[in-house]
Amino acid sequence: MKLLVTGGAGYVGSVCAKVLLEQDHEVVVVDDLSTGNGDAVPDGAQFVEADMVDVAPKLLGDGSFDGVLHFASKILVGESVEVPERYWHSNVTKTLQLLEAIRAAGVPRLVFSSTAATYGEPESVPITEDAPARPTSAYGATKLAIDHAITSYAIAHGLAATSLRYFNIAGAYAGLGERHPVETHLIPLVLQVATGRRSEILVFGNDWPTPDGTCIRDYIHVGDLADAHLLALQTAQPGEHRIYNLGNGTGFSVREVIASCERVTGMSIAARDVERRPGDPAVLIASSEKAITELGWKPLRTTIDEIVSDAWEFTRSRT
Ligand code: UFG
Repeated sequence: MKLLVTGGAGYVGSVCAKVLLEQDHEVVVVDDLSTGNGDAVPDGAQFVEADMVDVAPKLLGDGSFDGVLHFASKILVGESVEVPERYWHSNVTKTLQLLEAIRAAGVPRLVFSSTAATYGEPESVPITEDAPARPTSAYGATKLAIDHAITSYAIAHGLAATSLRYFNIAGAYAGLGERHPVETHLIPLVLQVATGRRSEILVFGNDWPTPDGTCIRDYIHVGDLADAHLLALQTAQPGEHRIYNLGNGTGFSVREVIASCERVTGMSIAARDVERRPGDPAVLIASSEKAITELGWKPLRTTIDEIVSDAWEFTRSRT
């Protein structure tokens, strides 16, 4: 297939572009490098450095594309609460323009990066796709808004669409890993302590209703996540919008993640308990049963030590 990958210079987008190329798909990456890295665009992909809304109508307009994978977005939950306008503009206004370009060009398939943040504070775990979607951040709300838009486009215009709701993505694949300009995610921050770049990891809250008092998250390897995108492209049906959660189905607490980082790096990690971070739910664990059953997806790197090992190898390669 010939595929347009928006945000293909970012963490997840670059890994997915790499996996698509390995499966002999033709990949065109569009990324404005506002947060991505040009050297993360995999060899073999055509790279267009631009804002997707400026180039998508022309690129898609020749009618040669079989699908779009839309990763480009703002992703910081905390920032989205403080500067929501940035999120509504980037994640909604621009994505609606992309959807219009897709419709106008008659592109048949779309895979969209949605998020567990669409659910907000869950009533029960593991979270299934029919759980109430009550996002607690503008980030989650913008992704949910686009999920709704995609549903109506699929029904009205015959688009074969899939939204993948990612839980906590981690690890690295083929030399491509997490390199955010402002790092807020737990595993890369803990590994920065291991490399000496950071003196300690702050543990946000030790009084959560969990066995060790710290938050529990479902960590999924970025390579397994990429595999689900391929399966989504293969199984999507015209006129249908399918939504799948993607996680391991197992949760690890902040302290368990730090312990894993200590095992993998062989170093002792300094950690300090501080106040809770606003907006954090206590426990987020995915039910990925629907993806397993309907997509035929099977996560292959499911232990926290495997995931952390790949992240550590990537971190070391860049320090
Ligand atoms: N944490 C710390 N200290 C830190 C950083 C994080 O204790 O320095 C804790 C957080 O409080 C949270 C856990 O580690 O309990 C994981 O935090 P991350 O920032 O790594 O990830 P989040 O769970 O906040 O969010 C991520 C993505 C979201 C996505 C969500 C879905 O960033 O986009 O997973 O599960 F919606």
